[in-house]
Amino acid sequence: MADLKWSSDGKEMFGKIMAIVPEAMRDAVKPMLFGFLEKRAAGKTITAEIVAAMVQNDLPEPQRTGIMQALGMKKPEEQSAPATETPPAPAFTPQWQGKSEMMFSQMLEEVPEALRGVFRGKLLEILRQKSKGGLVTETYVTEVVQEIVPEPFKSKILKKFSEIGEVDISVIDSIIAKHGTTQDKLTFILHEAQEAIGYLPPEALRAISNKTGIYLSTVYNVATFYKAFRLEPKGLHHVKLCGGTACHLKDREGIAQNIEHLIQNTPGNKVTLEKTLCLGCCDCAPAVVIDDEVSQGKEAKDRIKKLLS
Ligand code: FES
Repeated sequence: MADLKWSSDGKEMFGKIMAIVPEAMRDAVKPMLFGFLEKRAAGKTITAEIVAAMVQNDLPEPQRTGIMQALGMKKPEEQSAPATETPPAPAFTPQWQGKSEMMFSQMLEEVPEALRGVFRGKLLEILRQKSKGGLVTETYVTEVVQEIVPEPFKSKILKKFSEIGEVDISVIDSIIAKHGTTQDKLTFILHEAQEAIGYLPPEALRAISNKTGIYLSTVYNVATFYKAFRLEPKGLHHVKLCGGTACHLKDREGIAQNIEHLIQNTPGNKVTLEKTLCLGCCDCAPAVVIDDEVSQGKEAKDRIKKLLS
C-alpha cells in the first residue's frame, strides 16, 4: 500500500478517521481501509472526496454512520433531498435477560468514545428487530457481535463475554489501573482481586490475563502455587487439618485422611479445608481446628459430619 498517492486533504481526512479508531486497533483497520481506497482511486491521487466516498460506500454499518457523524459528514440523501420531518424512531427500552445487559455494555466499551452514541442506537435497533421488541437474550447480543463486528474486534469481544461469570469482577479494572500490567505486580493484583471478590474464580484469572497481557498459564501457576490464594469461595466453616509429623504418626486409624475424604466428597460449600503443618497441640493428635477451636481426631470427625449434614 506504500504506493498510494495522497493529496494533502485526502491525507488529512484519513488521519481524522484513524484518530477515531482506538490505537490498539489501528494496525488491523488500516490495511482494510487502504484496500478500499486503492480500488476507489484506481491509480489516481487519493483526495478527501475519495476518502469520503469510501466511508459512505465501503464501510459497513454501524461503523459507517458512526464515522460520518464524528467527521460531520452528511448522508447523500440529506444533501440532496429537501428537509422533511423524520418520523421519530419507535422507543425501545430493552428488557435484558441474564447477562445480556453486561455483555452489551462490554461490546460498547470496545467502541471509541466518539462513536459510542451512534453505535448504541444502531445496536439497540438491531436488538429490537432480533427480539421483536421483547426480551433481549444473551444469544441475541452474541449474534450481533458475530454478524456485524469485524475481526479482530469480534474475537476480542467474544473473549470478554467468556470472562463474564456469575461473579462481578469489574473491580479488576481499577486494581490493574492501580498496579500496572507488569508481571512483577501479578501477586499484588491477585491479592487485591481476592480481597475484593472473596476468591479467584476462573473468569477473574482470565480477565487478569487478558487485561495485563500476562499468559493465563502464568497467572494460574501463581494463583495455585501460593496457599494464600483461593480458587473457590470460602465455606461457611473453616477446618484446619494438621499434617505434622507427630499427628501423622499417632493417627493409626487414618482419621485425618477420613476427614479429608469426607469434606472433599461432600457437595456444596459448607466447609473449607486447609491442610497445615504442626498446629502446636501434638498431644491431641491428630489435631484439627474447626472454626478456631481445637478438636482431637475422632471428636473432630463427628463435629465435621454434623456441619456437613
Ligand atoms: S504435629 Fe499436629 S499438632 Fe503438632
